[in-house]
Amino acid sequence: MQEKINSLFGIPAPDAAVIHVRDTVDGPVPNIDPNYIFEPMVLKRILLWLGPKTPRKNIFLLGEAGVGKTSLPLEVCGRLRTPVWSVSCSGKTRFEHLVGAMCLVDGNTKWVDGPLTAAMRAGGVFLANEITRMDPGEQMRLVDILDQRSRLTIGETGEVIEPAADFRVAVTGNSGGHGDESGAYAGEKVGSFAFYDRFIKIKMEPLPEEHEKALLGKHAPGLPEQIRDGMVSLARQIRESFVGNGGALRITISPRSLIDWGKLACEYRLMSGLDPVKDSLKDIILNGSPEEDARVVMEIYENWVNGNQP
Ligand SMILES: Nc1ncnc2c1ncn2[C@@H]1O[C@H](COP(=O)(O)OP(=O)(O)OP(=O)(O)O)[C@@H](O)[C@H]1O
Ligand SMILES: [Mg+2]
Repeated sequence: MQEKINSLFGIPAPDAAVIHVRDTVDGPVPNIDPNYIFEPMVLKRILLWLGPKTPRKNIFLLGEAGVGKTSLPLEVCGRLRTPVWSVSCSGKTRFEHLVGAMCLVDGNTKWVDGPLTAAMRAGGVFLANEITRMDPGEQMRLVDILDQRSRLTIGETGEVIEPAADFRVAVTGNSGGHGDESGAYAGEKVGSFAFYDRFIKIKMEPLPEEHEKALLGKHAPGLPEQIRDGMVSLARQIRESFVGNGGALRITISPRSLIDWGKLACEYRLMSGLDPVKDSLKDIILNGSPEEDARVVMEIYENWVNGNQP
C-alpha cells in the first residue's frame, strides 16, 4: 500500500511524494507516538537508508543522551509497518546473544534465533542500542553481517542464512566510537575504525527551538505557553554548557528530560503545596546531581522566574 509522506510523517511534502507501507508483517512492528516530530532532512536520510538505493545497509545514529537516536528508527518503522528487533548493548554483550542459542523447548534442545538472526531472516531492522559500549572484539564479529553481501552461518546447526533484501542494521551511541572524551558517558569504548567504517553516520541534534516548543506544547498542554517557552529556552541554554558539548556542567536537560519536566509540571499544578515548575525541575533533573552543577542550573532558573528570559 502507498501512503503520502506528508500525512504519514507530518512534514511538508508534495501530495505526489508517496512511500510503500507494508500490508503484511512478519515480526514486531513498533508502536508509534502520534506527537513525534520529524526533522525533514534527517527523515529523508533515514528513508533513503531503508530504501533500495542505499549504498550501505547499516546506519549509526550518534548524539547526546535523550536526543532521539533510539526513537527515530522506531517511529519511522512503526509508520512504515517495518518490524524492528532491538537490543541494548553493554560491555558484556556477546555476538552469541545477538545471533541466538540452543535452548530447551518442551524437553527438546532447539535453536532459537536471537534478534539479529530474526531480522536477517524476516527482513526489517536490527537495532542495537549503545553499540559504542560493546567490547570492540565482539563488535568485529559483526562485520561479516554488515558487509553488503553478508551471510550468517549458524555454527550449532550448520544453517547458512542469506539476509532478506530489506534487512537493515541501525546502531546508536553517545560517542562516535572513539571513546568519550567529555567524561559525561562512562562505559563508552574505543572501537575499530574498520567496524564504524561500515556505517552511514548521522549526528543527531535536538530539534530546532520552534519545533521543541511545539513538542512541549503537545506533551504539556496544561502549562501556559509563556512558561513552556521559558522551559525550552532554559533547557537549550543549559545544553550549551554541558560537558558533552564542550562546557563545564556535568548535567544537562536533554530533549527527553524536557518533555518529562513539562509532563510532571502539569501534574504538580494539580497538587497543592508544590511549586510545579521548580519542584518538577528538581525531581526530573537536579536531585542526585553534583551540588555545584545543580546550583548553577537553579541560578539560571531563579533568574528566569525573576523576570529575565533564560
Ligand atoms: N523528535 C522528537 N519528537 C518527539 N519526541 C522525541 C523526539 N526526539 C526525542 N523524543 C522523545 O525523547 C525521549 C528520548 O528519546 P530517545 O530514547 O530516542 O533518545 P536517545 O537519543 O536514544 O537517548 P539515549 O542516549 O539515552 O539512549 C523519547 O521519549 C522520545 O520519544
Ligand atoms: Mg537510546
